[in-house]
Amino acid sequence: MKNLGVNEVREAFLSFFEGKEHLRLQSFPLVPQNDKSLLLINSGMAPMKAFFTGQEVPPSKRVATCQKCIRTGDIENVGKTARHGTFFEMLGDFSFGDYFKNEIIPWSWEFVTEVMEIPADKLYVTIYEEDDESGDIWHEKVGIPRDRIVKLGKADNFWEHGTGPCGPCTEIYYDRGVEYGCDSPTCGVGCDCDRYMEFWNLVLTQFNANEDGTYSPLAQTNVDTGMGLERMATILQGVDSIFDVDTVRAVRDAVCTRANVEYGKGGKTDVSVRVITDHVRSVTMMTADGVLPSNEGRGYVLRRLLRRAARHGKLLGIDGEFLAELSKSVIACSGDAYPELVDKQEYIYKIMSVEENSFYKTIDNGMEILKNDMEEMKAAGITVMPGEKSFRLYDTYGFPVDLTREILEEAGMSLDDDAFAVEMKAQKDRARAARGKSTYMGAAETVYNELSVDLETKFGGYDKCEMDATIIALIANDEIAENAQKDDSVSVLLNCTCCYAESGGQVGDHAIIETETGKVQVTDCIKVIGGKIVHVGEVVEGTVSVGQSANVILDTVLRMATARNHSATHLLQKALRTVLGTHVEQAGSYVNPERLRFDFTHFTAMTEEELTQVEVMVNGFIMANLPIVAEEMSIDAARAKGAMALFGEKYGDTVRVVDMGGVSVELCGGAHLTNTAQAGSFKIISENGVAAGVRRIEAITGTEALAYYQTQEAQIKAVCKVLKTTPDAMTSRLEQVFAEHKEVAKELEKLKAKMAGGAADDILAGKVEIGGVTVLAAEVKELDANDMRTLGDQLKDKIGSGVIVLAGGAGAKVNLMAMATDDVVKMGVHAGNIIKAAAAVCGGGGGGRPNMAQAGGKDASKIADALEKAKEIIGEQVK
Ligand code: ALA
Repeated sequence: MKNLGVNEVREAFLSFFEGKEHLRLQSFPLVPQNDKSLLLINSGMAPMKAFFTGQEVPPSKRVATCQKCIRTGDIENVGKTARHGTFFEMLGDFSFGDYFKNEIIPWSWEFVTEVMEIPADKLYVTIYEEDDESGDIWHEKVGIPRDRIVKLGKADNFWEHGTGPCGPCTEIYYDRGVEYGCDSPTCGVGCDCDRYMEFWNLVLTQFNANEDGTYSPLAQTNVDTGMGLERMATILQGVDSIFDVDTVRAVRDAVCTRANVEYGKGGKTDVSVRVITDHVRSVTMMTADGVLPSNEGRGYVLRRLLRRAARHGKLLGIDGEFLAELSKSVIACSGDAYPELVDKQEYIYKIMSVEENSFYKTIDNGMEILKNDMEEMKAAGITVMPGEKSFRLYDTYGFPVDLTREILEEAGMSLDDDAFAVEMKAQKDRARAARGKSTYMGAAETVYNELSVDLETKFGGYDKCEMDATIIALIANDEIAENAQKDDSVSVLLNCTCCYAESGGQVGDHAIIETETGKVQVTDCIKVIGGKIVHVGEVVEGTVSVGQSANVILDTVLRMATARNHSATHLLQKALRTVLGTHVEQAGSYVNPERLRFDFTHFTAMTEEELTQVEVMVNGFIMANLPIVAEEMSIDAARAKGAMALFGEKYGDTVRVVDMGGVSVELCGGAHLTNTAQAGSFKIISENGVAAGVRRIEAITGTEALAYYQTQEAQIKAVCKVLKTTPDAMTSRLEQVFAEHKEVAKELEKLKAKMAGGAADDILAGKVEIGGVTVLAAEVKELDANDMRTLGDQLKDKIGSGVIVLAGGAGAKVNLMAMATDDVVKMGVHAGNIIKAAAAVCGGGGGGRPNMAQAGGKDASKIADALEKAKEIIGEQVK
């Protein structure tokens, strides 16, 4: 048996299959493209699903990859055992309707026994119990004795994923020896213990699983194999677990050095070391593929893994930040296989460091909240923390539940685990519901999936705005059709087009498609399964039919506006990297005819000065009249040219490079200007944060920018007209106006107080005695409820003892108020009851306390009557 490092096994596998005429592809990114059924790529076949169903044409019928995979289903067990991990590499060879069982079975054997030189007497294979054909190939063609070919049932050896392609699988096992066994008399291949280790799964997709539970043979039979690279290395290196193979061990050693602990003594230390080792690998790989920490989706997976690692670091007694440092060991041993790790290393360190530190802040915040919660519990005499509280800490504040548990226990309290689990399940259900329903291949089941896979549209719209084409397919009112009539909603497929289909953040073009018999107004253009271009719109005249010649006329006004924004986005990226630094990476972009939106990694809000600098720089590029040239070239040539690539994006061997006079060189398939000057001008209209470490700039160009300046100018002119000044003097004039206003307001307050004093005197002059109680009842027209209360208080002070009833207002809005001093309250006066009766006279209601009450009414003409009523009630109260 050869003793090979992980990197050597990977290379051996890929070159072996290249020798069998396979096309070697780079690992796809961990972020699935056009597949809503998965958060993260979890197997070699996952990014190639559409090649299996035949919905997309693969670059070769034989492909081999080493795919980065993440599986988080068992995350709770990671660390606790040496078997579980979240990140792993899967070696796979794939046949899309090409070779089948007869080839893959002997080839696998050849690789395992001749290339890896694993002794045959250590190997077993399993087959699906009904798949005698595979059994015969293993026995007759390969020469494996029948007693080493184990038949297993559907649960183990039939690969199926909802409806869609499926089939039996045959797996290769390695016998690690009795010392790994469980001593059960029935221990054998398929046993759960550590002795027989499955390391290569050969899936033979030959059926289609139908909705009704039946299977029909597939037109195309495929092969999808998956070999755990680290597992294979475990065998070859004669070590116990994946944590001992060279690449993983390098990370493990780095963890131990940083924590100053020794691995292999068992117990909690080993658990924490394994958690950190595995999670740092996952986090490094995910970050390199453009996943950013967040509270949902894959961003949440990343956050959770990173925080779990950070937490275990603290359990090991590591002081301060440490994760970014550890990711260096991941990059050092896997950077050759995954060059994106090296390209993005500075960025990876930065993201990890920001997130780790923000987690420590979270812990501090969480501690505060937990302390408050515990105080409340103590006050209420509760010792078990309710589920919604512990879950809120965990979910909203990101506070680790085991920490909550620990701290509660220290204080003689506990956590209601069941209640927490209930909240967690509810959360998971919500997440699942939000993910939505999808088919086996993840793509939404639409009529586009029924289109023939051979349909192809040649795009000629980079430099043409009108083209002669032929209609090759039509969808009218959601069904595949031969013809479409006026008013039908249609999707038109053409053999060629000048319309750009929405992709790379650039919206789809608008156009007119004209045939001899009809006209279609195209209001969107999209790419559907298999990369087909679909023109979406409505038949606005006559009819159109499949097979007809058509003239496609682009809406060039909209296209030019979009191109201005798209080209400006590239210039903006360049300016941001220059002004802020090269940690700026595109995190998303969207361009339409009105504006551009650019999301990028940066860790603080931009200052006014930085924004101005960026604006000046982009406008400088525009005025520099730079030629924009788009060219196809090999990915290596593009790299050599220093072209900026997006991460998380899969590029083919040939890429399109958009070069703006050497100032900005980016890989991009979008529609651009031919010269930067065509952008006219560039104006940032907003800058804000959209997620941790991600900022968003919105900006406009060309006519939109001009319109923006014109609107602003018109607004300034309007303001100046009102202020009777010029734009230059506007600010000082405004300051002067505000200063005057302040003076006037002060003056007004004084006058009001004076007037109120005067009013108080008038009212006092009208005082009456009812049953020995001083009563002031008056109409005060101008006062609102607040002023009325102030006046009431003044009057009360003046009379010392008595009742005050005030009413004011006009039309349908009346305010009433009554106040009584404490001594008269003792005599039986009740302001609430007075006001209730008085308000009723004005068609209103209200009430209040014995010493103070307010109410509203609806008829000001009744105020005098209401005051009379009030006096009457007072008379009754003091009788
Ligand atoms: N797709 C198969 C697996 O993941 C090979 O095991």
